[in-house]
Amino acid sequence: MAALLLRHAARQCLRSQLRPMFCIRNALPMGTSAKQEMHPYWEKNTRLNRPMSPDLAVYGWSLPMSMSILHRATGIALSTGVSLFSLAALVLPGDFASYLELIKSLGLGPALIYSAKFVIAFPFMYHTFNGIRHLAWDLGKGFKIPQLYQSGYIVLAFTLLSAAGIASM
Ligand code: HEM
Repeated sequence: MAALLLRHAARQCLRSQLRPMFCIRNALPMGTSAKQEMHPYWEKNTRLNRPMSPDLAVYGWSLPMSMSILHRATGIALSTGVSLFSLAALVLPGDFASYLELIKSLGLGPALIYSAKFVIAFPFMYHTFNGIRHLAWDLGKGFKIPQLYQSGYIVLAFTLLSAAGIASM
């Protein structure tokens, strides 16, 4: 009861202090959803028979597009891989060294071992270097089309070199 009285008094006090535009009674209805707001735009595009994104016939595959998809794919692969690795470390009986010995005892051959290491290192390296590229974008840098391609090639070169280096260790 005391709380209700206090709220009522505070409301009256606020109403007398604030200009009418701040009053609850004058509040505007909540904004529409993004989907509703975009509806007239999509409708106009359909009416004018404009190509809709994603339309690969019009936009085509590009390096930035492919690298963006690869960033998401490596993010998902890393999340899955790190989670499974952690779970395995918790539930499996042996320790890391014993499983390494087990793999060594299989005698898989250097080419297969190198390829397997490369496949594991690649998503880590790609996601890390491309993540730095993303962070530069978050700072508003490198959005011009030539810069997008340049940074893309640099990320790919760093990824391949570092993954190859790690695989050879
Ligand atoms: C094991 C380590 C990591 C895991 C499991 C991981 C996982 C993920 C996942 C799942 C996403 C969301 C992908 C999407 O839906 O588009 C993501 C996005 C991102 N990651 Fe990572 N990540 C890791 C390491 C890193 C590192 C080291 C960096 C930076 C150096 C980084 C930078 C980013 C950035 C900037 C994004 C957002 C990209 C965007 O704006 O769309 N990540 N990561």
